[in-house]
Amino acid sequence: MTFSLQQSTPARLHHLHVVSDNPGRLAEFYTSQMQMTSVGGTDHDRVVLVGRDRAVEITARSSGRGPHFGYAMRNQEELNALRKRLQNHGLACQALTASLFQPGAFVIGDPQGRRMAFGLEMSDAASVASRDGLPARLQHTVFQTTELERVVNFYTDIVGFSISDEVVDDNGRVAVVFLRSDDEHHSLAFFQGSRNEWDHHCYETDKWNDIRDWGDRFAAIDVPIFFGPGRHGPGNNLFFMVTDPDGNRLEFSAELARVAVGAKPGVWPHGERTLNSWGRAWMRS
Ligand SMILES: [Fe+2]
Repeated sequence: MTFSLQQSTPARLHHLHVVSDNPGRLAEFYTSQMQMTSVGGTDHDRVVLVGRDRAVEITARSSGRGPHFGYAMRNQEELNALRKRLQNHGLACQALTASLFQPGAFVIGDPQGRRMAFGLEMSDAASVASRDGLPARLQHTVFQTTELERVVNFYTDIVGFSISDEVVDDNGRVAVVFLRSDDEHHSLAFFQGSRNEWDHHCYETDKWNDIRDWGDRFAAIDVPIFFGPGRHGPGNNLFFMVTDPDGNRLEFSAELARVAVGAKPGVWPHGERTLNSWGRAWMRS
């Protein structure tokens, strides 16, 4: 069997580094609405927020820093093993400083310039563990890409993600790929489309009633759901989506499937019922 993160060095999405033209406004949203607390940031151009199993670093676009998405490894040995493997593939592993990870974290670039970081969770005040708030564990991030095959090959063949499910259109072209880095159905996914942009990120809750509570929380500040509630075919998770003040899409999910090591990738037809078995879907183009 070929190398897989899931089997050898499981990784989970730990934090996002988001760039914004208005970091103050975005930080206010994640502080108040997502129940996160500032644990760093030295000026108006950088805010570091941590909540219950979720964390985000927000920097001003004008600062030229970021963005990246950060995956936490279980221990130093596995982080070292992964770095060595990536370097053996000829990939540059740049040191990541002043981050939400312990010293020793590094960042790699994918073929289209997205930056993915690997590191170890903080053990001090910046830890995401044992914090109060509604359950919402940062769990996956998704991108639209103009070169689906190229980026998926990178994340599977080089980084070690495993394909859990593919969505295939009527002409046999792959439209969506769901990738796992541990036992959860996907921690990363890519949609084929006309743009290269961030699609959404997702918080996994503990149960369906948490979806209700988050829905009520967004209702209280007049943020409407734009997709869902429903159930995804691939992953079988319940979900809804809203947007933050920058238009970034947040998903809240429950009951995301788990997938065994070596499981054969599933194939789904490209249609509304695949993206939402309960009915209407947001179709990327
Ligand atoms: Fe999602």
